[in-house]
Amino acid sequence: MKVAVAGPTGVLGRALIPRLLAQGHSVVALARSLDKARAVLPSAAEIRPFDMLAPEQRPGLPALLQGCDAVLHIATAIPADMDAPGAWDANTRLRTEATEALLTAARQAGVSRYLQQSITMAYPDCGDAWIDESTPLDQTSRRGGVTNPVVTMEGLVRSLAEGQMAWCILRGGSFVGPDTFQQSDIAKLKAGTLTVPCDGRNYVSLIHVDDIAAAFAAALLRAPSGSVFNIVDEPLRNGDYLDRLADVTGSPRPPRAPQQPCPPSWRCSNTAARAALAWTPTHSLWPQP
Ligand SMILES: NC(=O)c1ccc[n+]([C@@H]2O[C@H](COP(=O)([O-])OP(=O)(O)OC[C@H]3O[C@@H](n4cnc5c(N)ncnc54)[C@H](OP(=O)(O)O)[C@@H]3O)[C@@H](O)[C@H]2O)c1
Repeated sequence: MKVAVAGPTGVLGRALIPRLLAQGHSVVALARSLDKARAVLPSAAEIRPFDMLAPEQRPGLPALLQGCDAVLHIATAIPADMDAPGAWDANTRLRTEATEALLTAARQAGVSRYLQQSITMAYPDCGDAWIDESTPLDQTSRRGGVTNPVVTMEGLVRSLAEGQMAWCILRGGSFVGPDTFQQSDIAKLKAGTLTVPCDGRNYVSLIHVDDIAAAFAAALLRAPSGSVFNIVDEPLRNGDYLDRLADVTGSPRPPRAPQQPCPPSWRCSNTAARAALAWTPTHSLWPQP
């Protein structure tokens, strides 16, 4: 297949694109920085410059997607300072107007398959209850009270792709592995500056970045049209996860901070993805020596 990837130069893209090429696909990388794309992607990937947040470039998008069988949207813009005013604006635009533009252009270009990266953190706090794909997403944004942009994004996929392209939404857990937030957690554990909020009993659903790349490759070939999957490893209680991360990296276990608010608990099931995609996580959640 000829596969266009929006957001190819990030953590997931750098794991996914070599895998797609190794499986015999050809890859069109839609990258906003040619220099970065050339530096981080295999030379076999064809790079086509495109900034997803530049509306003036959008009329040219169908031509960029011409000849592609599939489009994958894995772009994101997570801010460095998550609490700064306007910090999430770019990410919201990537999930809303840029998703709409990509879907519209893919239809115009005659693309037959569309895969959308989404997040399991869009589910509400479910405590100890398991979360599967039928659990409704949290409709409110945790920042600002407006409709959650992830809900808008998934709604756009359903409405614009249905009947036009085979579509699939992959809701990823928090990434672990090289270049992920796990690295900053390890640094904080080593420095003794990480605390476990509340009692640490909330669940986290994690996924190694190479395993989510494998899920994308599987979904490209096998996902039924109109499907949604959680792409996660076995959920862990946050306190247990951080204690073990401390143990395997030779750091002191982090203290509990009962005065801090309890984070949402996301105990997400990957049963559906295992069955439908013939996929299973194979990479350890723990850093290898
Ligand atoms: N990280 C996690 O823990 C996690 C968990 C679950 C799901 N996800 C989802 O997985 C996907 C990939 O995440 P990631 O961690 O790989 O993200 P990342 O490392 O931050 O990469 C983001 C990608 O989006 C591109 N991008 C940002 N703004 C753009 C723009 N205006 N025009 C074109 N491209 C733009 C970036 O390009 P540059 O390289 O030029 O910046 C980069 O290629 C996202 O959909 C994210 O929501 C992430």
